[in-house]
Amino acid sequence: MWQIIGAGAIGCLWAANLYQQGEKVRLITRHPVDADFLLYQDIQGIHWRLPISHHHKLLKSTQPILICVKATQVCQAIQAHKAQIQDGQGIILMHNGMGCAEEIQKILPKNPIICATTANASLLLSPFNIRHTGKGSTYLGPFNQQAKSYQDIVIPLNKALNDCHWCDKIESKLWLKLLINIAINPLTAIHQINNGALKKESMQKLIKNILKEAFLVLPKKTLLMSETEVYQLILQVINLTTDNYSSMNRDIYFKRHTENEYINGYILKKAMQQNIALPTINSLYKDIKALEVSSLIHSHTS
Ligand code: PAF
Repeated sequence: MWQIIGAGAIGCLWAANLYQQGEKVRLITRHPVDADFLLYQDIQGIHWRLPISHHHKLLKSTQPILICVKATQVCQAIQAHKAQIQDGQGIILMHNGMGCAEEIQKILPKNPIICATTANASLLLSPFNIRHTGKGSTYLGPFNQQAKSYQDIVIPLNKALNDCHWCDKIESKLWLKLLINIAINPLTAIHQINNGALKKESMQKLIKNILKEAFLVLPKKTLLMSETEVYQLILQVINLTTDNYSSMNRDIYFKRHTENEYINGYILKKAMQQNIALPTINSLYKDIKALEVSSLIHSHTS
């Protein structure tokens, strides 16, 4: 049985598609939820009512656990279910940003850790109600030695959402997604604009600066793409998602914690280790932090 921790847009998307392929699926929520069906609108616009089981407790099993919560909640989720997780059980991490796998490795040193990144887009309309809004590739790969033999995990996932691949050097895919996220998310969050508004010349200039700085800390030979190629890819993502609001934009808008520490923060940590100054990224990091603090204070006082 697939146990998916996190019933957000991406967790529910996998749950729906695995279920439709005949897989047993159980969504693990933070709190008990009163829902008999997962309402799912697929990419063709077809509506489904899927009787997917859910619970707030993880069952003991040996099958890999798919973790689809935000980077900021991964450690908390693992701690909450640690007693149910067996030594040697695979842990698949699927979220924006980097740095979580290192933290999880410390909590679960005997478990294979698989990192995953997906370009599928999904919208959580309300709890247990999602719409698949965009198709894209999914990559999974080993973070540690124990996970190196897990390539067959992509077979059911590929049946469910296709364009799903095993990648021995998953770091390259994670970094590429990180570069896309760092170029799009903070600016759209700080200025509360949609992705399309990044086409403005002033924003393009900033994106080029961000990218230049991020490339200074990108580990050598991780990415087989030049800075210009990555910039072109970012433009492509902006064009494909013109009307969308990025996840960080929504987090600031709804006064939630953002993935700042795992996007800007991760790159700044790498820079600090190498004694490199990244002024543009540092100022984005500080701006997001200030917005988080003020919106959290605001939400407590209002
Ligand atoms: O985090 C997001 O919103 C998305 O990963 C992306 C690709 C930046 C599109 O908005």
